Amino acid sequence: MLILGIETSCDETAAAVVADGKSIRSNVISSQVLVHAEYGGVVPEVASRQHLATVVKVVRQALNEAGVEARDLDGIAATCGPGLVGPLLVGLELGKSLAYAIRKPVVGVNHLRGHLAAVYLDHAKNPSPPPFPHVALLVSGGNTTLFRVDGQAKTVLLGSTRDDAAGEAFDKVAKLLGLGYPGGMVIDRLAATGSATAIHFPRALPGREDLDFSFSGLKTAVATRLAALGRPPENELPDFCASFQVAVVDVLVRKARRALAREGLRALVVCGGVAANGGLRTALAEAAAEDGFSLHIPAAVLCTDNAAMIALAGTWAIARGERGGLDLSVDPGLPLS
Ligand code: KG4
Repeated sequence: MLILGIETSCDETAAAVVADGKSIRSNVISSQVLVHAEYGGVVPEVASRQHLATVVKVVRQALNEAGVEARDLDGIAATCGPGLVGPLLVGLELGKSLAYAIRKPVVGVNHLRGHLAAVYLDHAKNPSPPPFPHVALLVSGGNTTLFRVDGQAKTVLLGSTRDDAAGEAFDKVAKLLGLGYPGGMVIDRLAATGSATAIHFPRALPGREDLDFSFSGLKTAVATRLAALGRPPENELPDFCASFQVAVVDVLVRKARRALAREGLRALVVCGGVAANGGLRTALAEAAAEDGFSLHIPAAVLCTDNAAMIALAGTWAIARGERGGLDLSVDPGLPLS
């Protein structure tokens, strides 16, 4: 089964062809990050216009790189939410139009379902994917959520952020430090040579049973410190970043371990852009060795927004018999049912 995936929920225009629910035949990602960097964050209307200008080229490139014609496809999957309404409409309407033209099924895919599916791609490099059920920690610029994943389309929400997402906290702190946008990667790089015990930043919601997250207090603690003491000199930035990063990582790891223990599960999937973080990967690997759970993190290109994960989740949906009509629409707040 050859499925074309289209992803336009935020600031990446992406298209991919996935064969038989496992091999990635192409995975094209056109990032708008430089366009939005000027504003320090994603501007929805600018994002919509960029998607409009790029999406047809990106889809053509994905088909070319996969060596297929549109008529060879068995179906099309496009992200239908959650995300920004304008960007979502651009990708979904193109998906529907193309599916109508080639007379093949189209399905709308929940973006979060895509992130959770990513770990089942790339079989050559990932020969032992996690069993169902497992716990998944989805950490990105828009989400920080723990799920119990019982099957391809069966998830139970265990906990979520009550305010900012972890990636958002990285981006806001990077902005406060004048490190540019998006800042997660820069903080990660600086933190690698800093001391994580130099400054103590607060950890929110430590309660024994709690599986929710909160990062706005941490962001405020950083802002308050900077207002009182000014921006640290260049040579102190690594310590500052390492201390901030460990405050985020500590909470993510603690809650993931707690979720595994509470659910009695021994496999953890971590996905979303923040899964690329070096400090988080090291701390999770240590926790996995200590507690005896298996850790599954997709390749970096499959952790951040991409269309291969949408094509895979769409393959599963089409195999289940799901079909979208021409009235298929987007939902910016689409929950994961
Ligand atoms: O999943 P993703 O590509 O999409 C959105 O949620 O939009 O995640 C992007 C987020 C950004 O907040 C970015 O700063 C963060 O992931 N990120 C990182 C790292 N790489 C990307 N955060 C911490 N460390 C990293 N290495």
